[in-house]
Order: sequence, then C-alpha cells, then structure tokens
Amino acid sequence: MGNRHWPMFDLRLTTPDLQLRHLTEADLAALAAILPDDAEQDPSSTSFPGLDGDRNRGVVVHQDYWRARGGWRPESWGLSFGVFRDGELVGYQGLEGDDFARLRTVDSSSFLTDAARGQGLGKQMRAAVLALAFGALGARYAITSAWSDNHASLAVSRALGYVDNGVTTHRRGETVGEMVHMRLTREQWLTSGWGDRVAVEGVDECLTFFGLGSQQARDRQTRKADALAMLATPGVDVWVATASPTGAPHLVPVSLAWVDERAVIAVEGGSVTARNLTASGAARLAVGPTRDLVMIDATLEGTVDVGADGPLATAYVTQADWDPRLGSGYVFLVLRPVRVQAWREANEIAGRTLMRDGSWLV
Ligand SMILES: CC(C)(COP(=O)(O)OP(=O)(O)OC[C@H]1O[C@@H](n2cnc3c(N)ncnc32)[C@H](O)[C@@H]1OP(=O)(O)O)[C@@H](O)C(=O)NCCC(=O)NCCS
Repeated sequence: MGNRHWPMFDLRLTTPDLQLRHLTEADLAALAAILPDDAEQDPSSTSFPGLDGDRNRGVVVHQDYWRARGGWRPESWGLSFGVFRDGELVGYQGLEGDDFARLRTVDSSSFLTDAARGQGLGKQMRAAVLALAFGALGARYAITSAWSDNHASLAVSRALGYVDNGVTTHRRGETVGEMVHMRLTREQWLTSGWGDRVAVEGVDECLTFFGLGSQQARDRQTRKADALAMLATPGVDVWVATASPTGAPHLVPVSLAWVDERAVIAVEGGSVTARNLTASGAARLAVGPTRDLVMIDATLEGTVDVGADGPLATAYVTQADWDPRLGSGYVFLVLRPVRVQAWREANEIAGRTLMRDGSWLV
C-alpha cells in the first residue's frame, strides 16, 4: 500500500544500472556510513562539541534530511533519493525547487561512494532526477553549481547537455574559490534522448506537493518546446489530411521529417495525397496521440524528386526510418506550417495556438 500522506516515499526512478527511491528515516544510518569525505555540507551546519568530524557529518546528514521533510512546501521542496545498485546503497541524489510552479527550475546535488565512481553512474543518477523534472513535473530549466576544480561533477553536467552559466567567487574554508554555474534547458534535455533511458513511477500522487495540479496546463513556451521535440523525434509518423477539388477527404499516415521548420513527407508522385496537395496547396497534419498532439495547417512549398536534393534527402532519411530513394516514383512534399497548435487535455484548449500566419507567437 502506498504512502497516502507522504507519496514521495513511493517515487521510483530506474536507469539501466540504478534504482533510485526516496530515502526514509530507516536509511539514514546507512547513508551517513557511506558519506564520502569530499561530499560537501553546508558550512553553516551545526557543529557539536565533543563529536569527531565523521560523527558530526553523520548527524548533519540526519538533520538535513529532517529539515527537508519538515520544511517542505509547494513553494520550496527538496527530494532525497537513495541510489541503489543491485540493492546496495551506493550514493545520494537530491533534487530541489523553489517557487517551482512559476520558475520551473530545479537544482540538484549528489555523491557516490568512491568504489562506484568513474563508471557512468553519476550521469545515470542525475539523468534519473532530470527525467522526473522535465517529464511529469514539466521543468523548463535545470541548474547546478560546482567548484571549478570539481571536474567529475562538471563533466557529468556537460555530458548531459548543461552549458556554462557564469562563475562566482566564494569563501572556501580559509581561502577563496570559484563556483561554476551551469544550466540545462528543456529543449536541450528533450533532444538529448536521455529521458528514454529512465523509468519514472509514482509521480501522479505527488503533483500537488510540487504546487502542480494533476492536469496542469503547460505554458506556451513549454508547449512549443514539446511540440518541436515531438516533430523532430526519429521515426515519428504524421497523419496528413487533404481534400480533392470536389471536396472528397483523404487521410493517410506517413513518416515525417522536420527540416528547417518545414514538415517534409515522401509519397508517390501519383498518390491521392500528392495530387490533392498539388491542386489545393493545403494540408492539415497531426502528430501524436489524441491527448498529446501537435496539429499543423500547412501549405505546399514545393515538390522535389527524392533523388534531386541531396541535403533534403539526407535530412529526411536521418529522421525517418526508411529511404524513399530505394523505391521508385517518390517525391518529397515540403510543407510550410502556417498555423501550429498543441494541446493535451481540455484545460490546454486555451492557448493552443503557437504559430499563426506562419509566425511563432512564442
Ligand atoms: C560527482 C560524482 C557524483 C560523479 O560521479 P561519477 O560516477 O564519477 O561520474 P561518471 O562516471 O558518470 O562520469 C561522468 C563524466 O565525468 C568524467 N569524470 C569522472 N571523474 C572525473 C575526474 N576526476 N576528472 C575529470 N573527469 C571526470 C567522466 O569521464 C565522465 O565524462 P564523459 O561523460 O565525458 O565520459 C562523483 O564524482 C562524486 O560523488 N563526487 C563527490 C561529491 C560531489 O562532488 N558531488 C557534486 C557536488 S556539486
């Protein structure tokens, strides 16, 4: 049975090699026992006279955990995941957000035991919480910071697509150090493909704790990023609706390539779709399931023999899962979007138009 009052305990994130589940109080002694020396704690943490450094750090692990649970508000929250490999606790991965429903920005922190480092696990556990953030939570940005000499942490961020976002100077013990800030946008995350390698379970019950309704409407920027990612997905198919000069409707599913903001399809030159489009110059395209779709009204910009335009054919074949040049009689129909709409449920009908008269509104 799930945790009705604290459903975050039921969150599960799974990567190819790791399982992440929210820590409970029963895990804290084990977490303190694996805390590596180089895992930094807040310099303002309590210092208890009479405790040696190791024990004091273990106490702070407990206090940090309780503070995060006790101080949780939708406007300021922090998740604490244990990172398990084959059932063994090998690290910690945190994710936090302030004013998240408005700012859509998450920050993260982590450590691994010495024995678990250098095997790609740092990337997997960060990707796990990013999949949660950019997936069900609808984050737009992920930020992170590390000392300039923390090469492993910075390399994890760079490998996942974060880019430099400034440097600040801070007191570091008795000296001064440079903190490197990095930021990952939703667009960069969605095109990285990392999200496909993570399974996220148990988040629906938690949404209200993050200040999100269970069917939170996405804002327009988020919808545009999601729509562009969907259109650029390898192997994605599109429904193409056209009409004949007498008004007979025609609907076909075909492969789609999104090339330089054009929808490109390949059909036989004599097909009904090609004939209808040549005659009317207009089509309506739909990508995605009915509760998460992108709808495009487009005009025919050009008809190109599949062998005649090398770069166009390369772009098409790179995204689509077949090569029309291997058949005969195929043409590319290059369709210019005039209106683009994207919505999921009824609460996203308002604001669904993202492009009008060929211009993006966001
Ligand atoms: C940060 C940490 C979790 C990274 O975990 P990890 O398992 O070593 O990282 P990965 O194996 O996934 O490696 C990720 C990248 O870092 C690189 N890397 C790892 N250790 C490195 C080092 N010491 N110097 C330079 N690059 C390093 C890897 O080559 C890899 O790069 P690539 O994707 O280009 O191949 C781990 O080093 C750690 O626990 N550090 C101490 C705590 C800490 O600093 N946490 C972050 C606080 S901001």
